[in-house]
Amino acid sequence: MTTTTETNDPAARRPSVAHRTTPRLRAAVVGAGTGGSLSITALRNSARYELVGVADLRPEALETYAPAVATALDHRDLLSSVAPDVLCISTYAPTHEAIAAAAIDLPVRGLLVEKPLSDTTAGGRAILALARERGIPVVVPHGLMAMTGPREVVRRVREGDLGELRLVEIECADWDVINAGIHWLQFFLALVHPEPVVSVLAACDTSTRTFRDGMQVETEATVVARCRNGTRMIMNTGDHLPVAGSRTGAVIRIVGTDGLIEYAPWENEYAIAAAGAPRSVVTGAPLGVSGHQYHLDHLADLLATNTVDDVVPATSLAALEVVEAAYLSHRERAAVSLPLEHFVAPERSGWDPGAPYAGVGGGRDGRRL
Ligand SMILES: NC(=O)c1ccc[n+]([C@@H]2O[C@H](COP(=O)([O-])OP(=O)(O)OC[C@H]3O[C@@H](n4cnc5c(N)ncnc54)[C@H](O)[C@@H]3O)[C@@H](O)[C@H]2O)c1
Repeated sequence: MTTTTETNDPAARRPSVAHRTTPRLRAAVVGAGTGGSLSITALRNSARYELVGVADLRPEALETYAPAVATALDHRDLLSSVAPDVLCISTYAPTHEAIAAAAIDLPVRGLLVEKPLSDTTAGGRAILALARERGIPVVVPHGLMAMTGPREVVRRVREGDLGELRLVEIECADWDVINAGIHWLQFFLALVHPEPVVSVLAACDTSTRTFRDGMQVETEATVVARCRNGTRMIMNTGDHLPVAGSRTGAVIRIVGTDGLIEYAPWENEYAIAAAGAPRSVVTGAPLGVSGHQYHLDHLADLLATNTVDDVVPATSLAALEVVEAAYLSHRERAAVSLPLEHFVAPERSGWDPGAPYAGVGGGRDGRRL
């Protein structure tokens, strides 16, 4: 298996080891739950960082960290007491923007912001714009971008190993569009980058009133996203969704004019049948660090070299726009055109597909398009 060295490809980035002698960056984490623990462990395992503080609204979440590191219930108290170089924002999406603004105001030197960047595209865009304006690099820890197997899938699809990309089909059980779906959408956008999604159509079943990670989510959803060049993404997410033949509860099928790749997140292997060759399984070499450490070490590289790498944050923001468009499509019963800020929802009507047409009442004759 090969790795690419092309620099603007999200599949190509590898943490550098060229900065072992620079002083360690002082890092703090807000939100000490599942995502925050991934950052805390990564910071502790990385030679590039020193964990100096953790904040969480719940005192019990801080017990394992105090007194070894500073702790606070409020992120503002943590920022003022430890003034970290790097802040990891690992709370729920609706709180990311305010915490990022406080950190940028301090200012920190770098940010890790958990996916989804925010609960709205506008919120995510505001975080990235403010950080860019102040020259503060941001990383978003999308795990697939930190694994050799899926990174090689991105490289091979982009280099045309499947011919022209036509369809990406995603099934994902136990999760929803905004929380895990955003990982798969970011992966899809890395495959087609910089091709934009121009239209999103979605339907959601909300019968169980499921909530997850601070958000109301769907019981089951289907999202269709179409790129300007016609490439389609179809994603089916849901609680208890049966996913045939899946070992991990999720599968991504990538279909080109000359072959097919099947990838099961979070595995580091994929199956490919292309260019007339029989189906084979390719296993990626282990990177030796966790996804969060990969992204944090990359942030340390960006700070050490005073460079910016927007590809993963930009595709994460674009994925968030698809997420928001999907939920809007469900609400408005309409295909949502992107960019989202130009979309105007059609007037609501009682039009009922599947009901007999009475011959009166207007509408468009579908035989005369
Ligand atoms: N990149 C990944 O692979 C990955 C994995 C897990 C979670 N996440 C993301 O991490 C974020 C948090 O999810 P989680 O699974 O860790 O949830 P969680 O419920 O396990 O933890 C969230 C923690 O944040 C704390 N919190 C909430 N609001 C706060 C605030 N304003 N200030 C301080 N603390 C606050 C809560 O008390 C809780 O301890 C979400 O955006 C989620 O999508 C990402």
